[in-house]
Amino acid sequence: MSGKVHIMDHPLVAHKMTILRDKNTSVKDFRDLVSEIGMLITYEATRDLPLTTKHIETPICPMEAPTLKGKKFAVVPILRAGLGLVDGVLRMVPAARVGHIGMFRDEETLEPHVYFCKMPKDVAERDILIVDPMLATGGSADAAIAEMKKRGCTHIKLMVLLAAPEGIQRIQEAHPDVDIYCGALDDHLNEHGYIVPGLGDAGDRIFGTK
Ligand code: PRP
Ligand code: URA
Repeated sequence: MSGKVHIMDHPLVAHKMTILRDKNTSVKDFRDLVSEIGMLITYEATRDLPLTTKHIETPICPMEAPTLKGKKFAVVPILRAGLGLVDGVLRMVPAARVGHIGMFRDEETLEPHVYFCKMPKDVAERDILIVDPMLATGGSADAAIAEMKKRGCTHIKLMVLLAAPEGIQRIQEAHPDVDIYCGALDDHLNEHGYIVPGLGDAGDRIFGTK
């Protein structure tokens, strides 16, 4: 069975995604929106975090109130564009650890190469949320997930802002145990491996490098 694909169905996400896609949106606004949409998708991606209860007293009476069980959690951005999503995740889950995985795509084959990987020591015990704004061919996410599995991780989710059907299919085939959370699902990839209609090069737009 394939992992589930959760496509955000929320007017705030749809509205913010439109501003993000617009080529006239400034670097500053683009960066802020990536963070905000990341925060909104995190809300959905953490829906199954386990709860316990604790005893508190409200101004009215005592109660057994729900509280997070404190399960170990790590967010893993794929460098470099994934960095833009970290802040939004941490605003929702402030105690999360952060692991980094550096990856670049070969311009011709579009295949990714890992050049950096620094994880928390106990990463194998943690629930992992890999974050990257774009799931295009799926090569980068596929390699990042494989790298985490090599390090013993067994609970992995993938969060992206925009996905192409080709990328979704690749992850579902290679990693049927991984659920995908995305802000929107687009139409197809063009001959350069860019998502259409897409938003362009996410890294360049976040960091203003073009
Ligand atoms: C972009 C994006 C993903 C990757 C998606 O990164 O942030 O990591 O492409 O494409 P794929 O699904 O076909 O692998 P890029 O390689 O442009 O590097 P950057 O983050 O440094 O801009
Ligand atoms: N990487 C990007 O930044 N944008 C795309 O459309 C595809 C891959």
